[in-house]
Amino acid sequence: MSDIQHVDICCGLSWGDEGKGKIVSQLSKSGNYDFVCRWSGGNNAGHTVYVNNKQYSTHLIPSGIFYGVKSIIGPGCVVNLNSFMQEIRYLQENGFDTRLVKISPRAHVVLEQHIQEDTQKYAKTLGTTGNGIGPCYRDKHLRVGKRVIDCMDDFKDYIWDETLYGTILCEGAQGFWLDIDYGNYPYVTSSSTLPYGACSLGFSPKKIRYIYGATKIYDTRVGYDPDFPDNLLDDPILTKLGEVGKEFGTTTGRRRTVNYLNLDKLIQAINMSGTTHLIISKVDIVVEVGVFKYYFENTLLSCPDIDCMKSCLTTLLRKHTCIEDVVFSSKPTEI
Ligand code: IMP
Ligand code: MG
Repeated sequence: MSDIQHVDICCGLSWGDEGKGKIVSQLSKSGNYDFVCRWSGGNNAGHTVYVNNKQYSTHLIPSGIFYGVKSIIGPGCVVNLNSFMQEIRYLQENGFDTRLVKISPRAHVVLEQHIQEDTQKYAKTLGTTGNGIGPCYRDKHLRVGKRVIDCMDDFKDYIWDETLYGTILCEGAQGFWLDIDYGNYPYVTSSSTLPYGACSLGFSPKKIRYIYGATKIYDTRVGYDPDFPDNLLDDPILTKLGEVGKEFGTTTGRRRTVNYLNLDKLIQAINMSGTTHLIISKVDIVVEVGVFKYYFENTLLSCPDIDCMKSCLTTLLRKHTCIEDVVFSSKPTEI
């Protein structure tokens, strides 16, 4: 019999950078969770969280660590052990209890040769983050990869004993439209970003309670994608949104291409992910720029003000999805 009460999941509904870290951070703070777990990706991800008004960034270690919650890097993740240790030291220097961080022995190790191959071959053609993610997952699926269990001696303090109990929060990496199966292939990442991927942590799908889906009120994309053509970068209003919204990558520092919210894609992502609670963030950015536009049924629609935009989006989302709740947020503390 499993001692797991229930599992909540936070996933991205767009192309990453939807503020998942801030949501997970708020949820972890509640003290309601026994574990916060990552189920996919590696240090290609990056989140920025604010703890006591101080900004922290991590790439691999789940945000639960900032609130004293056991933080697990699951079997579906790929781990660069050098950057993992760097993150551990960074957290220690800032006074966080890193004894709570554990890695699955089944997770695969990103090797130097994976990084070389990724930066030399795929960073330019596919716009990857150059962290060796694709080559590492390829070797995993070829069954020639190296796993964390093979490096057990060096990392024994951080090896997860694979127990889970109580209430669990899973933290997604990347977003729905970067998923290996549902994204704009081959301009995708090499793992499952949809919430069902979280079950690879070792619980039954029947344990899932809430799915928190994160998006922004405008879309952004970092890395090459023909669905975000370069001419978007020349649009003065979209450029302004990017500047005011500080749309630069946490991991690579690259400028993100901005477009108006694509509600058709958001609706599809909500329905397929099973999102129960939707969080639409960065509302303050469109207010500051004073532009209230979104695509619906492939048409660009415009609202006179933010109240109109919020009510139009809410009405359409309620009509086309089964979400229980929609929250519009500006500053991270409002979630
Ligand atoms: P990779 O995951 O480094 O192989 O990159 C594949 C694609 O996913 C590229 O377009 C990246 O820019 C994008 N990507 C990967 N991780 C993130 C993320 O955390 N946020 C946003 N985009 C990401
Ligand atoms: Mg990110």
